[in-house]
Amino acid sequence: MGEMTLEEISSLLEQPGVTFTQLERAVRRALEPATDAPQFEAAELLTAAYGVDKSAILLGGKLPANPRGGQKLLDMVGRRLNREPLQYILGCWDFFGRPFLVGEGVLIPRPDTEVLMEQVLEGLKGVPSPRALELCGGSGCLAVTLSLERPDAEVWSVEKSEEAFRYLVRNNESLGGKVHGVLGDAFDLNCVSGDFDCILANPPYLNAQDMAELEPELSYEPTMALYGEADGLYFYRRLTALWAPRLKKGGLFAYEIGVGQEGAVSRMMEEAGLNTICQTRDYSGIIRVIAARKP
Ligand SMILES: C[S@@+](CC[C@H](N)C(=O)[O-])C[C@H]1O[C@@H](n2cnc3c(N)ncnc32)[C@H](O)[C@@H]1O
Repeated sequence: MGEMTLEEISSLLEQPGVTFTQLERAVRRALEPATDAPQFEAAELLTAAYGVDKSAILLGGKLPANPRGGQKLLDMVGRRLNREPLQYILGCWDFFGRPFLVGEGVLIPRPDTEVLMEQVLEGLKGVPSPRALELCGGSGCLAVTLSLERPDAEVWSVEKSEEAFRYLVRNNESLGGKVHGVLGDAFDLNCVSGDFDCILANPPYLNAQDMAELEPELSYEPTMALYGEADGLYFYRRLTALWAPRLKKGGLFAYEIGVGQEGAVSRMMEEAGLNTICQTRDYSGIIRVIAARKP
């Protein structure tokens, strides 16, 4: 069977007695040119547009008479065919099992970043009431999760973009976190005071070549969240040297890194007087997290 167009979905919606199952099949076919996961995405869009859960597709009930869901669905499928990320269209995406609000202006939380979260939680085991600082907070996925997983922690998160910061604040409120959000520059040591048991960051780390070869979906995300200057290492270079002195003795510094950056970033951490303790791979086997401790 060939691809389905938006017009064909639109005429399907006008036919009487159309079921959720029929509509899901049509949306799935329409999405095939835009994604490797058309079945998953069709179900996500359809359930979001109609406000139903996935059992509606399996049970195959008829669509409601009110055309509002259909209009919403057509709009969403059109956006996805323009390669807007699914997560922005849905407006919400899970991180560590919790729903974070997302949209244009903020980086979408990635599953790889959960590896950083796990390492930080592991590294803070046995540290009572830790003080933690996240640099480059974005949606707040790391800081808010840390605050919820470790209610005894005092968590700070610094984000420079006003748009992203609004998401951080909203996510902290809606999920019940206790993060101290700071709208400020991670290169400004005065943006927070005191020393920390843990400093963590998932800074922008794409290099110039990565930026030139971005997937269409990535070009919707803010350049400020992606670009780590020509070699991708700008943030690691400056942040490590600046913030290592603000770690307490025995404190943990943990970064998410880009593909192949482990050698350079480990060296920067060692030059800043830290001892690399582990490099952790993500779900695709790429070294994604580097953690070091202050002796
Ligand atoms: C790769 S994103 C990470 C966002 C979030 N922590 C996550 O893991 O999904 C990097 C974030 O750093 C922010 N950023 C860029 N330059 C910054 C700076 N100088 N100071 C603070 N935040 C900055 C961007 O706006 C973006 O939100």
